[in-house]
Amino acid sequence: MDIKVTTIAPENMKPKPHDESMLGFGKLVTDHFFTMKFSGERGWHDAAIEPYRPLELDPASMCLHYGQEIFEGMKAYRGKDGSIYLFRPEENIKRMRVSAERLCMPEPDSEIFMEALKKLVLLEKDWIPYGIGTSLYIRPTMIATEAALGVHPSDSYLFFIIVGPVGAYYPEGFSPTKIYVSEDYVRASLGGVGYCKAAGNYAASLYASKKASEMGYTQVLWLDAAEKKYPEEVGTSNIFFVIGDELITPPLTGSILPGITRDSVIQIARSWNLNVLQKSISMDEILKAHKEGLLKEAFASGTAAIVSPVGQFYFRDDEHIINEGKVGSLTERLYNEILQIQYGEKEDPFGWRVKIA
Ligand code: COI
Repeated sequence: MDIKVTTIAPENMKPKPHDESMLGFGKLVTDHFFTMKFSGERGWHDAAIEPYRPLELDPASMCLHYGQEIFEGMKAYRGKDGSIYLFRPEENIKRMRVSAERLCMPEPDSEIFMEALKKLVLLEKDWIPYGIGTSLYIRPTMIATEAALGVHPSDSYLFFIIVGPVGAYYPEGFSPTKIYVSEDYVRASLGGVGYCKAAGNYAASLYASKKASEMGYTQVLWLDAAEKKYPEEVGTSNIFFVIGDELITPPLTGSILPGITRDSVIQIARSWNLNVLQKSISMDEILKAHKEGLLKEAFASGTAAIVSPVGQFYFRDDEHIINEGKVGSLTERLYNEILQIQYGEKEDPFGWRVKIA
């Protein structure tokens, strides 16, 4: 299938941001987007890049009623020499296909998906910011478009990709965040869709996040739904703890999103001969390690947040400060390593970088 490209007249293009330090996350979108339709009869069809515009949807579209919607998050980076890179894009494509299967949606064709990513990013390459830590965020999304109110898988879908320049995800930037440990609310349970990038997972997280924010915390540390004992994720990211000489992250049991940055952290840390364990660790064990001075660092990992240090967590009416509220040395080393690989400033022994220009 060919991608039909229609470009916007230069005089109608949006102004590009001048001050990269003000980018924040997800506030700007570029001039074009990619769309592709699916119907039972025609399969995937009408792949196009066109000027950015509002979507026209029937108010009965199923995505609006039953949340049959999935998405991905990835980034394009500008290297110092002007090269443009994607980071492990085939992993996002695979994960979107996994999410699609679980949500009874058609799997987007991998080849057209990759071609669309490359074509759109290249068309919008002047939007890619220059500073390290900034990038062009890419948001592939799929929604159910059949106009029907019976609860069943839709028979038609729209897949689209929007992109926009971003800086740090958290207002704190790379400063340690304050985390609220939630025992009242959970993000996902076993057998559910926690391992998918389903839009509904994020809607379900808002209430606890709002409570945490009202109390002055940046994000929520989510515990397992069954026992409310074991940390699973933090905010919209995976979580890591450095305890003694071990780097520990919860295992992918089904309620946790298999983060691509999570996997990159694990592979990099193992290549440094660190002892990385994917195991469930309870809040009790974490508190005990903290008391004994063994909890050295904690950090979140995600495409948007990259590697983000956790400076303290609030659990059962107590504040627990980690590493005196400072960025840990391993957290910083991993952050720098990932960034340098992503921006083409370092060898890429893992073959993760995809140079597209
Ligand atoms: C990402 O890290 O790309 C995410 O998808 C998190 C997002 C919900 C902001």
